[in-house]
Amino acid sequence: MRKIIIGVLTVAFVGAMSVFAGTAKAEDEACCPKDDQTPPLELIKKTPIGGLHNPYNDDPAALEEVGQKKYLSYSCNGCHGGGGGGGMCPPLTNDTFVYGADDDTLFRLIAEGSDELQKQGYTRVRKEIVTGPMPPFGNIIKTSDDMWKVISFIRAKNPSSMKDVDKPAQTPGSKTE
Ligand code: HEC
Repeated sequence: MRKIIIGVLTVAFVGAMSVFAGTAKAEDEACCPKDDQTPPLELIKKTPIGGLHNPYNDDPAALEEVGQKKYLSYSCNGCHGGGGGGGMCPPLTNDTFVYGADDDTLFRLIAEGSDELQKQGYTRVRKEIVTGPMPPFGNIIKTSDDMWKVISFIRAKNPSSMKDVDKPAQTPGSKTE
């Protein structure tokens, strides 16, 4: 009888642990969902550094047109050129990404701007032809979904950047607020 009870308890324990592990994993993978209406700065606040992943990475080219419309509507082209090839500011189409080419870093850079990133401990790990601050767009780009679509446009223009999509060039200490 005792053996049976221990057996049952063991099964229950192991079961509970795997459910627990399963939930934790699901949460990791949950960021970031498609059609997310959360404002970008809010999403950043609740996601630890390294946790932001573009839900549209399976086919960025499919979002090139939609993403470009948004990119133009936010006037990114004023500095980076209509096709992302640069202009007054660094090109988005070359292999050099100043802070890193991964989703997490790009999302934070575009939303918070480069001055804020540097305050958090990010440094320019690569050098572009032009050096200057990138303004924050977190209050201008209304939803995380729009942000991801703009980033997909950049990926469509710069497919080789996909190799670093989940590889941050740097991970400053976890941000708390
Ligand atoms: C006022 C000019 C300006 C505008 C407008 C602007 N950017 Fe930038 N952007 C910059 C500068 C300057 C940098 C380089 C930042 C640095 O070196 O710290 C940069 C960097 C970047 C990078 C990293 C590029 C690299 O080579 O590492 C991305 C991606 C980016 N911007 C996307 C955008 C998007 C998307 C928008 C529109 C929502 C936008 N930018 C609007 C000036 C601008």
